[in-house]
Amino acid sequence: MAEFKELPPGSPATAQVTNWFENRFPTAFDAYRVHMSEYYAPKNFNFWYIFGSLALLVLVIQIVTGIFLVMHYKPDASLAFASVEYIMRDVPWGWLIRYMHSTGASAFFVVVYLHMFRGLLYGSYRKPRELVWIFGCAIFLVLMGEAFMGYLLPWGQMSYWGAQVIVNLFSAIPFVGPDLALLIRGDFVVGDATLNRFFSFHVIAVPLVLLGLVVAHLLALHDVGSNNPDGVEIKATKNDKGIPLDGIPFHPYYTVHDIFGVSVFLMVFSAIVFFAPELGGYFLEYNNFIPADPLVTPLHIAPVWYFTPFYSMLRAITGEMVYVLMACVVLGAVLGVAKARISGVLKMAVVGAAVVAVALLWAIDAKFWGVVAMGGAVVILFFLPWLDFSPVKSIRYRPDWVKWLYVVFVINFLILGYLGVQPPSPVGERVSQVGTLFYFGFFLLMPWWSRLGEFKQVPSRVTFTPH
Ligand code: HEM
Repeated sequence: MAEFKELPPGSPATAQVTNWFENRFPTAFDAYRVHMSEYYAPKNFNFWYIFGSLALLVLVIQIVTGIFLVMHYKPDASLAFASVEYIMRDVPWGWLIRYMHSTGASAFFVVVYLHMFRGLLYGSYRKPRELVWIFGCAIFLVLMGEAFMGYLLPWGQMSYWGAQVIVNLFSAIPFVGPDLALLIRGDFVVGDATLNRFFSFHVIAVPLVLLGLVVAHLLALHDVGSNNPDGVEIKATKNDKGIPLDGIPFHPYYTVHDIFGVSVFLMVFSAIVFFAPELGGYFLEYNNFIPADPLVTPLHIAPVWYFTPFYSMLRAITGEMVYVLMACVVLGAVLGVAKARISGVLKMAVVGAAVVAVALLWAIDAKFWGVVAMGGAVVILFFLPWLDFSPVKSIRYRPDWVKWLYVVFVINFLILGYLGVQPPSPVGERVSQVGTLFYFGFFLLMPWWSRLGEFKQVPSRVTFTPH
């Protein structure tokens, strides 16, 4: 046990109270120092660095509003829809709590997508932050599950049919698929059993996992230290006290910086909550104001906007597209054997893997490969730290054309998102197929393109102009 610290007689009352607590709970005070007042963050953070704190804020909003919603919501297929309407019309301030929660779900994804894109821009996933990135990807995956299960709870037409479509996808998995779908639903169709288990997962199991992952994400980040827009490691240049020369204490400097970001965010968030909570049917779909009816399928079923880029990739994998995928596998194997500097044994392994892949593509239904593409689009993010071979981290010091590549990547992702909201069409199908190939090409060809071109000289210290 640490020694009790005595203050000189006559010390101010506040110092005495603080000292009383510090002597009894030193761990809390150490944690405050390690993570706040003595956590040295690079002094050149820009606005991209606000989204981590905003994600934390939205997490808190979701948990607090969720707790209040559960007080009035009924997880029962015959009562759920009406209980949400009751919250909206009769519970004092219920409408506000509900709109904050539904807007919060979309806000979470806006903030997390921007947060992830920042990682891509500045190479924040590179050594030594691979685990920070992996925890982040796990958060993203879990967040998708959380949002999907939450969407069933209002028991509207879109809740019901969306869940029906997505859970049915699992039945496309060879051998175990139908049993797996049954296990998820707890019934042969989406029903009361499904609602009850999704409720249980949505309100307690998944939020606990999410919180655990966020803690791991931040602890791992604070162990290795933050990256910055220059991609320069500030720990490489320290003063004689061991403090990075380009670092400033997180508190008060970045707490103030974050309060500004939080204020701007809350203005936009409130504008949506108070003036446009449905946001043209993107945040709350119109079909979801109709109670779930297992006998009437809506004409057009589309997931909420944040899932639609991945939903487009699912729809892009048609029988025809499977042939294109086979051609890609063959081309990849030929290039691998001809160009890669690998041993003969590895070359044989590449050929073997390609033969197996083509055989599987041939043998299994396209629907399954659609599911693989949708899942793979998220899973591939986990491997990003090992796909990027660029000698520099930040976009600032990469060749100029890489900026344009990132612009095309973003536009492509937005187009995929747009197409996922639209009903299927022949043109939409072709565009989403090209978009899907581009998305995967971006990542799978990264070991090649990330090394190309002229890189700029990375400075030894961060670049920063006080303003
Ligand atoms: C609930 C969701 C999340 C929360 C609350 C969260 C929170 C944070 C916070 C507070 C930071 C430090 C401040 C900052 O750098 O912005 C951070 C950094 C980081 N996060 Fe997240 N995060 C979340 C999701 C994700 C996801 C989905 C990814 C990526 C797939 C990710 C990747 C990163 C990376 C790479 C850093 C280090 C950035 C750097 O140092 O340049 N995070 N996160």
